[in-house]
Amino acid sequence: MQDAEPIPFRKDGQEVQDYLRSESYDGGFVVTDLEASDRVIARVTDGIYREPAAAFRELISNAWDADASRVTIHTDAPRFSRVTVSDDGRGMSLQTLTRLIKSIGGSAKRTHEGKELGITSKADVGLTPNGRPIIGKIGVGMFAVSQLARQFTIATKVEGESYRTIAEIHLRTYEEDNSAQGDSRDGEDSFRSGKVFIKTEPTEDTYAHGTDIIISYVKPNVRKILSSTDRWRLIDEKDKAALSNDWDTFASIKESVPAHHIGQFVGATREGEIKRGPSLPWSSDTPADERMSLLMDAVESQTTRVQRPDLSSSLDAYLHMVWNLALSSPVRYVGPSPFELSAKDSIKAFWLPPDSSTPAQELDLTSGCTVREAARDQVAGAPLLMENEQTPVGSFDVDVDGILLRRPIRYRHISTGERGLPNSLLFVGKFKPDLSKVDPTIRGGDLSFDGYLFWNGRVIPRDNNGVLIRIRGASSAYFDESFLNYKISETTRLRQIVSEIFVHDGVDAALNIDRESFNYAHPHIQFVQSWLHRSLRKLTNKHKEISRRLRDTRKLHFIENNEDFIESSLEELWQRERGDEPRPSIEVFSEFAEINRSRDDGNLTLDESEISKSIGASTLDPEVKRQATAIYEILLAFDLLTEKSFDQHAEIVAQILKVVR
Ligand SMILES: Nc1ncnc2c1ncn2[C@@H]1O[C@H](COP(=O)(O)OP(=O)(O)OP(=O)(O)O)[C@@H](O)[C@H]1O
Ligand SMILES: [Mg+2]
Repeated sequence: MQDAEPIPFRKDGQEVQDYLRSESYDGGFVVTDLEASDRVIARVTDGIYREPAAAFRELISNAWDADASRVTIHTDAPRFSRVTVSDDGRGMSLQTLTRLIKSIGGSAKRTHEGKELGITSKADVGLTPNGRPIIGKIGVGMFAVSQLARQFTIATKVEGESYRTIAEIHLRTYEEDNSAQGDSRDGEDSFRSGKVFIKTEPTEDTYAHGTDIIISYVKPNVRKILSSTDRWRLIDEKDKAALSNDWDTFASIKESVPAHHIGQFVGATREGEIKRGPSLPWSSDTPADERMSLLMDAVESQTTRVQRPDLSSSLDAYLHMVWNLALSSPVRYVGPSPFELSAKDSIKAFWLPPDSSTPAQELDLTSGCTVREAARDQVAGAPLLMENEQTPVGSFDVDVDGILLRRPIRYRHISTGERGLPNSLLFVGKFKPDLSKVDPTIRGGDLSFDGYLFWNGRVIPRDNNGVLIRIRGASSAYFDESFLNYKISETTRLRQIVSEIFVHDGVDAALNIDRESFNYAHPHIQFVQSWLHRSLRKLTNKHKEISRRLRDTRKLHFIENNEDFIESSLEELWQRERGDEPRPSIEVFSEFAEINRSRDDGNLTLDESEISKSIGASTLDPEVKRQATAIYEILLAFDLLTEKSFDQHAEIVAQILKVVR
């Protein structure tokens, strides 16, 4: 096939198949391009995403790429009929806007053309003119708006111009195309993705710059999702069932009012009413930049109800979306970043050598230095963790309805009771593999990243458990609790780990087009995966070592002080089922305040009055109390209670106790 030089086939009105059959054809190869059908474009512009939040995520990324310092999102929550997303970035020139419309899927970002359009830095096409790593790459992100609406308006202005441009985009949807087209051939035209109406408007304010995306009519099904309509309906049904003593229906509905929500709105956009006012963890005069932290507190405070609170039971769909946007946007952490932690944060820190055989190296934090400083000063080669985090790229704030987004991950040591480790463990590392041996055609460019694994007695909320891969500061997937398919089953320890990987170069190409999942066959993802799995093993080894030491000292203590049969059989059971994991601290209290305090301290606390009531006693004598805690511990050792609330724990223990007594 290599012999003859292929002749590029030119479309001078002749089809390639006609040329191949014509007299003038000489028997050699001709080259032609692969072309995409409008159908593909229509499908892509109709949305390749899983949830409405994708639209906001993509618009935030675009604002970041446009060097904006602030993005303001307004919704008319809890109605969710109108949405605007405004940024103060560089805006779009007519040329850039035309390109956006005419070349869907042909992003100019990270290309030389981007340089000419002034949307990438002159020196490095991977950076914005102001030096931020560019997130966009494909040229489809904007169409994520189709998740929210069929029509939207882009109003944009470039600094120095005396006009602003307004483009109204009317999208057809794929579904519509199907029905309009049927099987007839002349329907081909209806696969057009949509129409754009453009105009310019003179403006006095030549200095102004930025872009607004205006959605004045949100799709009804999206409104329904954002306003948690289905959940509220079930809650109403449950309330009704209770009023009419229909306990069968009542018990079958598992939904309950989320601890925090934006309110319940019933009805159509215009005529409708707010049936339930909002329940938010702040008041109207709370500053925007304190709200994310209060939202985290609110979710964390659910630990008096369940062992590992999760977002969907604590928050309604809207607040959950705000949380997820905060997690995926290139914004600051709600508190210090993991690399800025120090000994006062109750951590022990370790360096992860990149190879598979060298164990993690403990970093000395006694001088009061941060983890970043300790790594730089104590590890060979003076590695600097997250150099980019320190490079100023201008501030970037995202405000959603008055909530300033901050990355909702905290590295506070959460106690698991007096038997647990007194510290959290933070493992940090950097990786830049030598890819010279990988075939350049499949290598997918360079790869480099920094990462950490944070072990804590409890990960709250549960949704923060797993690994999250950020590419250039942004991420469109959330925490992956499988840790990229880690096959070793050590459920408890894995449930206690939060990990993030910050990719500087590479991995983009391993992201599937929905940007929410990875192509595991891509070499970059395989490198990330094997680094992560090695690091998990190193963490496990250290954690085991530390727990074993702690156990041994406690065991001595126990032998000296206790000859109890129940105690020794529980100790044995726990070790058999849970290995080196410390046994839970179980307490019994009857006062509400005491119970809550004890749970906040990380204990598993049984409500004495609940249990005595259910077994028909007025109080619990010490022996029954002992039986109750032993039953509780057995259930915990076999991991039978994880998804149950504390009230259910007490109920289960009481029911068993009733039978055995
Ligand atoms: N807020 C904005 N400010 C300035 N320009 C923008 C903005 N949003 C979009 N653009 C322009 O429109 C183009 C298309 O945006 P879109 O999100 O569809 O693709 P992309 O960002 O280039 O790539 P990706 O599909 O990976 O997001 C961008 O390349 C950019 O030039
Ligand atoms: Mg984009």
